[in-house]
Amino acid sequence: MEAREQWRSSLGFMLAAAGSAVGLGNLWGFPYTASQGGGAAFLLLYVLVVLVVCLPVLVAEMVLGRSTESSPLIAPIKIGGRLWQPMGWIFVIASCGILAFYAVVMGWTADTFFHSLFLGLPKPEEAGAFVTSLSTGSSVFLGQLLSLVLTAVVVSAGVRGGIEKLAKWSMPLLFGLIVILSIWAATLPGAWAGYKEFLLDWNLDELFNPKTIRLAFGQAFFSLSLGIGIMVAYASYSNKKSQLPKEALVISGMDTIVGILAGMITFPIVMTFLGQGEIQKSFVQTLFISLPTGLNSLGLTGQIVAVLFFGLAFIAALTSAVSLLEVPVSSLIDRFGWNRNQAVIFSTSLIFLIGIPAALSDKILEDMDTYTKLFLQLGGFLICILMGWFSTRKYDEDLAGCNSKIRVRRYLKFMLRWVSPIAIGVGLYVSVFDLVKPAVT
Ligand code: TRP
Repeated sequence: MEAREQWRSSLGFMLAAAGSAVGLGNLWGFPYTASQGGGAAFLLLYVLVVLVVCLPVLVAEMVLGRSTESSPLIAPIKIGGRLWQPMGWIFVIASCGILAFYAVVMGWTADTFFHSLFLGLPKPEEAGAFVTSLSTGSSVFLGQLLSLVLTAVVVSAGVRGGIEKLAKWSMPLLFGLIVILSIWAATLPGAWAGYKEFLLDWNLDELFNPKTIRLAFGQAFFSLSLGIGIMVAYASYSNKKSQLPKEALVISGMDTIVGILAGMITFPIVMTFLGQGEIQKSFVQTLFISLPTGLNSLGLTGQIVAVLFFGLAFIAALTSAVSLLEVPVSSLIDRFGWNRNQAVIFSTSLIFLIGIPAALSDKILEDMDTYTKLFLQLGGFLICILMGWFSTRKYDEDLAGCNSKIRVRRYLKFMLRWVSPIAIGVGLYVSVFDLVKPAVT
């Protein structure tokens, strides 16, 4: 067996992890989730779930990877024994399922990028035709295929040469662009109305609405790439010196800020050019309809903004897709001794096939998105139990190895044992309840 690769630097690891977290989940998922109601209550719940529930799980996932130096398929067994084998499989299967539909949305992003660049933006009366062209016909498969091939190329180039390199130049660019775009959006006449409608509208009842709770949990887990072993894979290439709790805080902070900034870009545009009715017509495709048509009325400026935004979204998506593919790839290498290229080709082909139904139907894509989010929470719950209750020695040793303060360690341990699993359990229960309810009544 070859020696296990390592990140070149701890910054490289953090950028790669942030690259995994920041993606379509922020730029596309956050605005579309926030627009389904909930307003400020959704935002508050989302931030609370990230800080209170997800942060300890994020650290636990990293510790699981780093202390075992194993892929997500093997790591749980090393800590908890054979009984934990199914957890590894949940990780691998869920990553493949998510990447399958993620690649389709990436394809739409690429398509919108090329359309904005070469053909210009659609007029409001062309919006319908534009969306139809986006999500039907051969261009969907072409986009999905292109996205998967690019992802495969990066992953097969390895941890240092592929993933870290990509993250290092793309993440700073991404942050810069997103800040510029959100400042630009703040100058639009509908800016304030947009923030108010989607992010600040306060309604106490929403806090207890099962749908708002389900969306907040799902969005928090999805956006942080949490619950299916991404951070296990990434941290397994990490050295023992870095302070994981601090890194986790930076990663989740960046991710949350980018999510909120993405909302601060899209909502002003929607309110200025389209009005609220528009965003509710099609949840999944909100971004791909509202942005190009809205920006069309600004002429060349609008076209430049659209090209920048969709180019950026595609790069953000690529760094996330890469992390999703790394889960099955590193697991196949670890478990069956395959080489990287074999593992990449096998996984990518399988994921392409699984994604075909999502490419053919928005409805299926939306369902895949909804139901895979339950797996993230299930995975997160299992990680709490494994790392909180079954791994005392390893876990403490590893955290001590990164010389974090004893207070921090105690806090994390307490959260992992008592708070996070109970909160996730409640979240999962409410989510399932919310999803089956329409069928019952
Ligand atoms: N977090 C990424 C985004 O916001 C998507 C993603 C990458 C992901 N890896 C994941 C989601 C693992 C869930 C689990 O777009």
